[in-house]
Amino acid sequence: MILNEAAASDIPGLVALVNSAYRSPRAMAGWTDERGSLEGPRTGKQAILTALGKSRMKVARPSSGTNPVPCIHIALGEDRDWYLSLLAVAPDQQGKGVGGALLEDVARQASESGIRHLRITAIRQSRDLIAWYEARGFRSTGETVCFPYDDPSVGRPLRNDLELIALERLLPSRSAASDRRAIFAKKRIHDGPPDDREGRTLMGIGEA
Ligand SMILES: CC(C)(COP(=O)(O)OP(=O)(O)OC[C@H]1O[C@@H](n2cnc3c(N)ncnc32)[C@H](O)[C@@H]1OP(=O)(O)O)[C@@H](O)C(=O)NCCC(=O)NCCS
Repeated sequence: MILNEAAASDIPGLVALVNSAYRSPRAMAGWTDERGSLEGPRTGKQAILTALGKSRMKVARPSSGTNPVPCIHIALGEDRDWYLSLLAVAPDQQGKGVGGALLEDVARQASESGIRHLRITAIRQSRDLIAWYEARGFRSTGETVCFPYDDPSVGRPLRNDLELIALERLLPSRSAASDRRAIFAKKRIHDGPPDDREGRTLMGIGEA
């Protein structure tokens, strides 16, 4: 899997990917589907175009076909933390380690760029998803953000108690990250080639 900057030509594929990952018909729904909390599209062409204009979106393309699978949006905050959103894996690809691998690669790239925190918000009611982030080093900051009930572009809420909680992951300092890379490189020389999962490389993320 190779991560690239998303281009304008990716927009239709990104809209389809994000909407299918977040909210799909029941038969196709992924394990974190928001069905029950929200309905309608999660995003649209204009929202993705705006997101691309303001900050970066990363996509991976499969070896065959052109539609991006998966994607993530990364915005550099004034505090120099990376604010993540629109992390999406196509429903039929979920539960195979794709989302976790993408997140770890983003964390590595952020750390190498001197970024100290990854930040994301999640719907408080999405307990499995929050547990997934916690298992990947994220912790609640204790802050909550009002759900944007007045923004129809994120879909139609089906309950009136939706709330977003802020999660953060502290990253190792740049020197610790490069020390770990050196240890890993030495271990690979010593142990021989890594197995398939370890050897998967996500490339193409540049500086923020
Ligand atoms: C959240 C998301 C990106 C995760 O990607 P993924 O590729 O499915 O995740 P992975 O395969 O890397 O991780 C799967 C883990 O979830 C667990 N999992 C799988 N199905 C599960 C289920 N039904 N309930 C709870 N946990 C489940 C697996 O046990 C696995 O855990 P492990 O790594 O400890 O074994 C993806 O599900 C998605 O696109 N969701 C819709 C969009 C979304 O909610 N984005 C985040 C918004 S904040």
